[in-house]
Amino acid sequence: MNDEAKPKHKLRSTEWFGRHDRDALVHRSWMKNQGIPHDQFDGRPVIGICNTWSEATPCNAHFRDLAEHVRRGVLDAGGFPIEFPVMSLGETLMRPTTMLFRNQCAMDVEESIRANPFDGIVLLMGCDKTTPALLMGAASCDLPTIGVSGGPMLNGKFRGENIGSGTHVWKFTEMLKTGEMTERDMIEAESCMSRSAGHCMTMGTASTMASMVEALGIGLPTNAAIPAVDSRRKVLARMAGRRIVGMVDEDLRMSKILTREAFENAIMVNGAIGGSTNAVVHLLAVAGRLGVPLTLDDWDRLGRTMPCLVNLMPSGQYLMEDFYYAGGLPVVIREIGEWIHRNALTVNGCTIWENVKDAVNYNADVITPAATPFKRQGGIAVLRGNLAPDGAVLKPSAATPALMKHRGRAIVFEDIDDLNRRVDDPALEVAPDDVLVLKNCGPKGYPGFPEVGNFALPAKILKQGVTDMVRISDARMSGTAYGTVVLHTAPEAAAGGPLALVQTGDIIELDVDARRLHLDVADAELARRRSRWKAPAPHSTRGWVKLYCETVQQADKGVDLDFLVGSSGATVGRESH
Ligand code: FES
Repeated sequence: MNDEAKPKHKLRSTEWFGRHDRDALVHRSWMKNQGIPHDQFDGRPVIGICNTWSEATPCNAHFRDLAEHVRRGVLDAGGFPIEFPVMSLGETLMRPTTMLFRNQCAMDVEESIRANPFDGIVLLMGCDKTTPALLMGAASCDLPTIGVSGGPMLNGKFRGENIGSGTHVWKFTEMLKTGEMTERDMIEAESCMSRSAGHCMTMGTASTMASMVEALGIGLPTNAAIPAVDSRRKVLARMAGRRIVGMVDEDLRMSKILTREAFENAIMVNGAIGGSTNAVVHLLAVAGRLGVPLTLDDWDRLGRTMPCLVNLMPSGQYLMEDFYYAGGLPVVIREIGEWIHRNALTVNGCTIWENVKDAVNYNADVITPAATPFKRQGGIAVLRGNLAPDGAVLKPSAATPALMKHRGRAIVFEDIDDLNRRVDDPALEVAPDDVLVLKNCGPKGYPGFPEVGNFALPAKILKQGVTDMVRISDARMSGTAYGTVVLHTAPEAAAGGPLALVQTGDIIELDVDARRLHLDVADAELARRRSRWKAPAPHSTRGWVKLYCETVQQADKGVDLDFLVGSSGATVGRESH
């Protein structure tokens, strides 16, 4: 590397590779066993490629190939790439829920970055929790960083029809319950749904979070939608590898990109894409790492009037592949250009508006104009009341309009086991206008805050042809799911929230327009029930689960561990020798 191309400021990596002592010999010598020539240690930026590849995370199983394209880009620009693994979180296999481990992965990312000789970072992320975990961990180090998403799978195709990851799992499950589908049909369908590399191709949590990466400006334009197997995804990875070297030179750190304005833009974009409710929890947690003040009320305020422009499952008809061919996220951001902070800086050095102003919409069925939106209400509604003093959320675009104002009798399930035992029991006394309540599925209660809030309706209700009922829980919901589902009720039941006090037969009022969730039981009676309430026994007396349950924050705060909120920067630590 010639002197002109060398970065203008001192790099962290010179503390490892640029010295003239025994420790530098150790740092260089062992790296050379990988075939690295001595000239790579000449002061060029060292770029860590943070990889969540794992065969147990099918959505990220193509990431070794993706990392190779990032590596080529880093080399193109004169950097020194070093790929490193971190904990991977596979949504479909991990028990009891990947969300139990999001913060653990974030710790791994943070400490791996800080402990190693990295000057800049490229984050490879795809399956739901991998994106927030990597953003959180990297944010607490605050080095120059680019996010590269792995991209969605191609459209599912079953018997001539498009089928969507997750969304059709829920549909097929209901059809199996009603007898409209056989188990053989299901096995054929599962092969047709996941037919290429990539993450869920509905506007579920993975696609939402990939969109958040682009909307926050921490990923390159078009990051959200390029299918995983499209060669342009490889080009994007390579361009990210090139660009991160420049970002190190400019000292363009995460905190300069992830400002309050960037988060507000992301919240507005989440409304415009009909994005997952999970984005609420994840963005609150990322903001917490950067000291950016962000609250549930910001979500309600910024999303309240935001129309949903994107006709994608679970709220609509199309899938991510169609979204990309229609022009992808740049078209959406351009459409809501009058609302967003246009001057928010992005990783390519341009403002968000400069990135999207010339975007062209190639299919107005998939991405509707803001003047004639797909759905009038796209944002996340934040509900409050005596049942959710610290808030609960609902996704209006995925709900049934007729149920948005509803008063009904509570049918209570004390926990997930109780639900599984009784929900399909023909003896269960339940009617379509009842309100189904599920307790003890929050961060501490399950533990880990699983995606069970969209639990299936009782079989006897489905057999009546009813497709939706009001459901309330302290759980999350898969981003691929739909229904009039109140989620993230805080405080959760296991923390003594009012949800713990609800009994079958109580009357509950939901009024989404008024943002109200009310338990119609006298205060004196609630006080009486509270005096008899006992906290559930601890889930574990040791290890990660103990640490998690003792320190996890509630949903309205982002479910980070209390001692992980904030940043420690990337100060170079002591030598080990
Ligand atoms: Fe990985 Fe849906 S299971 S993104």
